[in-house]
Amino acid sequence: MIERLWAKFGKSSLQPEGPDAIENVPEHVAIIMDGNGRWAKTRGLPRMAGHHSGMKAVKRVTMEADRLGIKYLTLYAFSTENWKRPKAEVDFLMKLPQQFLEIELEELIANNVQVRMMGHKEDLPSYTLSAVEEAIAKTSDNTGLVLNFALNYGSRKEMLGAVKSIAADVRDGRLALEDIDDTIMADRLLTSGIPDPDLLIRTSGELRLSNFMMWQLAYSELWFTDVYWPEFTETHLQQAILEYQRRARRYGGL
Ligand code: FPP
Repeated sequence: MIERLWAKFGKSSLQPEGPDAIENVPEHVAIIMDGNGRWAKTRGLPRMAGHHSGMKAVKRVTMEADRLGIKYLTLYAFSTENWKRPKAEVDFLMKLPQQFLEIELEELIANNVQVRMMGHKEDLPSYTLSAVEEAIAKTSDNTGLVLNFALNYGSRKEMLGAVKSIAADVRDGRLALEDIDDTIMADRLLTSGIPDPDLLIRTSGELRLSNFMMWQLAYSELWFTDVYWPEFTETHLQQAILEYQRRARRYGGL
């Protein structure tokens, strides 16, 4: 295990803390990629330029997450509330997955990355959905980093879906009320089979969850930075992980 991680790290800059820094890499990192619009504004650019630059940050961070040995990377790319934005911006955002995958899918495949999507597929334009589904199909046998796009995702909608499915099972006699527990709930969420995030990162100085993975983040470590998402680099991810490694996770215990 240690040998594999050392091999992955090579002579990386993430060594000052010794082997612990390498061993205790979070298994699942989730990111609220915020600040594209403000990044663009500070440069006198249209908001779309910020989203386009944000797409490049997605590539950098994915490759770094893979290099560090992170197993799951979940990225909040479009929320169930983002439909409220002007149509031109929504259209632009909906085209990004297709653009990203056209450019990057080959390299993701070469790096053994598995693409997944978490969100409500029904409202997505067909070009968005087919690009994502093609990437999912082409990478489904890959065993490396799981790159999980939260697309048209909202935690409340996700939890309501889970609650309704549990209620239907109770109503129809497939499940006893007293058997409902954390595991049954977790199995009906869109993250079923994926461990909860160990670390949540939010960029751009905002300190909220914004309807993101509210069940799954119950015991996650939270790391906030003022850096706008388009400026987020490999070094910022390393900083977040080093800070994570300094935290003591107690899960309510001592
Ligand atoms: C929030 O910043 C960001 C989004 C709503 C979109 C995030 C999308 C990307 C980073 C690109 C996704 C790429 C792929 C491959 C799917 P904001 O626009 O709300 O920024 P602001 O708060 O500064 O206005």
